[in-house]
Formats: sequence, structure tokens, C-alpha cells
Amino acid sequence: MAAKGITDKVAIVGMGCIRFGELWDKSLDDMIVEAAYQALEDAGIGPEKIDAYWFGTCNSGFCGITLSEPLKIQYKPVTRVENFCATGTDAFRNACYAVASGAYDVALVVGAEKLKDSGYSGLVIPPQPDDGTKPNYSAPAAFSLLAPAYFKKYGLEAGQGKEVLARIAWKNHRNGAKNPKAQFRQEITMEQIINSPLVAAPLGIMDCSGVADGAAAAVIVRSEDAPRYRKDPIFVKALSIICGPNHGGLHQDYDFTTVRETYMAGLDAYGQAGITDPAGQISMAEVHDCFTPTELVIYEDLGFSRRGGGWADVLNGDFDLTGRLPVNPDGGLKSFGHPIGASGLRMLYEMYLQLQGRAGERQIDNPKLGLTHNMGGFPWWCVASVCIVGKEPGAREGR
Ligand code: COA
Repeated sequence: MAAKGITDKVAIVGMGCIRFGELWDKSLDDMIVEAAYQALEDAGIGPEKIDAYWFGTCNSGFCGITLSEPLKIQYKPVTRVENFCATGTDAFRNACYAVASGAYDVALVVGAEKLKDSGYSGLVIPPQPDDGTKPNYSAPAAFSLLAPAYFKKYGLEAGQGKEVLARIAWKNHRNGAKNPKAQFRQEITMEQIINSPLVAAPLGIMDCSGVADGAAAAVIVRSEDAPRYRKDPIFVKALSIICGPNHGGLHQDYDFTTVRETYMAGLDAYGQAGITDPAGQISMAEVHDCFTPTELVIYEDLGFSRRGGGWADVLNGDFDLTGRLPVNPDGGLKSFGHPIGASGLRMLYEMYLQLQGRAGERQIDNPKLGLTHNMGGFPWWCVASVCIVGKEPGAREGR
């Protein structure tokens, strides 16, 4: 299965991302305006050039007016998108399709979420109507189930497994410490991570992403128009959103060491972009490290590691900033928190900067293809997205 895709038909010519964090002094409107105008300025255009808008938010607002009011949009189309943790990426995907179709020349996508003053945390899940038979997990509890299953299947002792997970958090906080836009900008020792208070065993606080407010934005045009805006546009190679049927929740054969939606989104995106060897062709990735075992399983589902080999690759430093395939170079959800509608665009922002050679202290050596991944829901019941962007149109060899 693979969508036909719109490889190289559209390009990103401007992006913005605000500093994420506990932004008690900023309203949702403030964050939207800051991110949107950063993106417009980066593209070198004013708002009058935008033909249509997409707005991704999960819980911070409802219709398109949530965007049109703060931006004072003068009677133009605005679409509000929600798709769990893939919200920002799905808003981006829909804007890309609209521009590729020729319906609009220039689109602005904004993703924003205000979590801190809404009382949200991973431990407080908004209730959904159901028949009363569905299990009610907190987010850390649901994702904690991946850890013992993975350890058992691949023969890791509990202490050894905990060290592998801690190495992922250590890496991401180490990268985040280099990022002026991150929520948490401190390196954290392996000891601090391993001994952090338990939230859902074996996960401690330091195995979890934080809770933050944030916003990010992108300006999209057709690729042939991109040189009019900048000399270094970034080309969209693949866009995939996959929703599953709750197979894992209904079938005994689900073993909690894979997220099938992520695997399928990877296959779909690789098919669109003509990628046959992701570990060899993808230069870098921003993945959904909501919890440390999630990132471990993603390495294998996206083909960055062989099945059962992810843990050894982590210990080997393969996904470090200087490793063979840097993952979460901006610090990830671990350092940025996860303001839901903003995260997908925040990830793309890092890929955009890296591909343009503008990532400062975090710069990876000459990357060619960047991948972003989100997943929302539970490991067995979720929506997953994969987006691939590249420095040059047509180039498929990667790295
Ligand atoms: N990573 C690193 N540091 C963190 C952190 C995290 N995930 N969460 C909190 N901290 C830090 C805070 O900065 C604070 O430090 P300080 O005392 O120096 O200021 C300290 O730890 C306590 O913070 P606090 O906000 O009181 O933590 P909390 O107990 O309210 O929340 C969690 C901790 C783990 C419950 C919360 O971060 C959480 O719910 N995370 C998961 C979010 C989630 O599930 N998202 C959905 C993913 S699909």
C-alpha cells in the first residue's frame, strides 16, 4: 500500500517556531501571531500574499475563527484540523495537497496548543463517550507497557532495559540543551534519569515528555514558484497519515513491541519518496518520543534499526547528534513538551533548519533527507504520521 503522493510538487519557503514552555504570560492568540509572523518574515512576504490557511489544534480552539481572529485574516479560507498527536502534521499535509492541486498558490499552516493553563497532563485524559468496556489508561501507563514486553522479547534484564531507555532521554535532553526554543534546556545525567520518581513503572518522570505550550508555522508554495521566495526552499517528498482498526486492542497476537500504524505510515511514505533503505537513505529524523520506549520501538518500526536491534544501536550512540542517523536533534518532545497541534510543525521546523544549514550548535553534517513522525492514541490504537522533506528536488539517494 502506498499513496501516489505529491513528491517534489510543493516546497516550504518560510517557517517559524516560538520558544515552547510554561507560557503563562502568553495567550493562544499571542502564540499564533508570533509563530505566523516568524514564518511570513522568513518567507519574505506579508499576510496579503496568503491565499488560504490551515490551523492545527487538538483542544485549544474549534473552528477556523480561532486562527482568523488573532491574525485578522481578511475574509479568506481557514480550515481547522484535528487528528490527535498528528494534528500539526495533518494540517500541513492538507495545505500541501491544496497547493499541489493548484487551488491556491500560497498557504500558511499554523499549529498551536495551550496546555499548561488548561490543566492538561499525561495523567489527566479527557473523557470520551464509550460503552464502558474500554480500558482507561493514562498516557504514561499505556506506553509503559512497551518496555517490559520489549525487554522480555529481546532478552534484556530490567536494569539493562532501563539503561537503554535512559540513554534515549539523556540524548534528547543533551540535544535540547543546545536549543534556545526548547522548554527544558538542561543536560540530565543517566543517574538522574534512572532514579527519577516513577510515574508508571518502569517509566520515571524523566522517561516522559513534558507538558508545554507552543506554536509553529509554515508557508507552502508550488516547487516551481519556490525560487521566487528563497534560494534554499525545502521540498516535500512524502506525506502519510495512517489510522488503525484497534487490532492490538482486540487480538491476542499483539505483543506490544511494535506500533503497526507507525510501521505502515513509514511504508507508505517510503513508497511515495522512492526510499528502499531508510537506514541508509534518511539523514536524520524527528520522532514522537512521548515516552522513552516509544522512541525505541519507532527505530525498529521505521526501519532505522533491525527488529530487536534498536536497543544495541541506542547504546552504540547511533541516534546521537553525531551518530549514523541523528534522531530528535532539536531535543524532541522530551525537551519541548508536546503542545499537541504544534509538535508536528515544530519537528518540521528542525528538519527545515537542518537542511538549510541553519541549526547552529546542533547542525548535522550536510543532511539531504529529513523525516518527521507523530503518533497519537495508544500503542495498539492510534493514528501515525510520517513526513519526509529534502534539500533538492528529485534526489533520492539521500544522505
Ligand atoms: N522531563 C523533564 N523534566 C520534567 C518533566 C519531564 N517530562 N516533567 C516535569 N519536569 C520537571 C519540571 O521542570 C520541574 O522541575 P523544577 O522543579 O526544577 O521546576 C519538575 O520536573 C516537576 O515538574 P512538575 O510540572 O511538577 O511535574 P509533574 O509531576 O506535574 O508532571 C509528568 C510530570 C511526567 C506527569 C508530566 O510531565 C506528564 O504528564 N508528562 C507526559 C505528557 C504526556 O503524556 N503527553 C502525551 C504524550 S502522547
